[in-house]
Amino acid sequence: MELNLRGLLIRLLTRLSWATSRRRMARGITRFSQVEADSGWQMLRALDAVDNVESRARLFNNALEEVHHSALFRELAHHYSDEPPPPATQERIQLFNPKEGMIEFSAWHYVGEADVYRDFLAYAHATREPRIRDTFLVIRGDEKEHQALALAELQRLTGSPRNARRLIRKVRIIRAYQAWMRFSKGVGNIVSSFVLAIVFIGVGWIFAPVCRRRIYGDTLPAPLNGASGEIATSSQTITGAARP
Ligand SMILES: [Fe+2]
Ligand SMILES: [Fe+2]
Repeated sequence: MELNLRGLLIRLLTRLSWATSRRRMARGITRFSQVEADSGWQMLRALDAVDNVESRARLFNNALEEVHHSALFRELAHHYSDEPPPPATQERIQLFNPKEGMIEFSAWHYVGEADVYRDFLAYAHATREPRIRDTFLVIRGDEKEHQALALAELQRLTGSPRNARRLIRKVRIIRAYQAWMRFSKGVGNIVSSFVLAIVFIGVGWIFAPVCRRRIYGDTLPAPLNGASGEIATSSQTITGAARP
């Protein structure tokens, strides 16, 4: 039920957002490109800590495919964008912590793969653009395999499916908390902007003359005073009707 509701929300909100602005759609796809690139980077950062040669090769291959996904999304964004592409990366926070080792990282890896596999179906159906839909579905095919490999690796490292499930639960709780904090921050920003707008509209005019004097001093004209075309300054008044 929760998954269906999430998928439904993604489809509704994304369709609404992308259908009303091609630029927003291109930026959204660019964001996917950045996230995929970040995933590949995270895996490469953990590569040296993998104790098994086969697991290391699989993780490396996984990282390469994430880079490929990033390139596919970037190409797609470029196709729908009429502005220069933004920087390829954003600020990164490394998930692999050498003190915690590969077990914790593998849990984060699995949850990330499982989430994109689940959500990409909703994103694919959120658009009527066949090219976008096909890209999401093609990438989702790879994510299905990534998800299975990540789970197998996590179970190998933890020693049992039960231990793996316990770690997955822990990571999901942390991710839910992080998502809640991001949401709260967003809502807080909207509320504080609204309050500031009320204050500005309600009492801003009281302080306007003082602010104008502080910014312009006594030399520059004040704003137009009414529809008559009269411009008032501290030293003179110029009336449009009196001009030659
Ligand atoms: Fe990917
Ligand atoms: Fe993946």
